[in-house]
Amino acid sequence: MFVKTTPSAGRQVTIYFEDQPLEVEEGISVAAAVLGPSHGWTRTTHGGHKRGPYCQMGVCFECLMTINGVPNQQACLVPVAEGMRVNRQNGVPDFGKEGCNHA
Ligand code: FES
Repeated sequence: MFVKTTPSAGRQVTIYFEDQPLEVEEGISVAAAVLGPSHGWTRTTHGGHKRGPYCQMGVCFECLMTINGVPNQQACLVPVAEGMRVNRQNGVPDFGKEGCNHA
């Protein structure tokens, strides 16, 4: 599934990656926004191995992150928004009531 992100004309929004403010261009994906500050890893596997965005187009699922408290979000398909809270996902979270965005 392709999602076309639409970078703005230089407008900035503030998101919070691991509780640290990060100013990024409005409209880019969460995966793109945190690629530098995350040092390339945005989740760990069940065994603790670091993983990061790979395909950037919704195919590989290596970019799963917790976004605004909801785990299992494909960060490459979610555009940034003002005040968004983004966290690495460690291991395999409990799907619970939230489920995931790729049912
Ligand atoms: S980077 Fe491959 S699904 Fe997001």
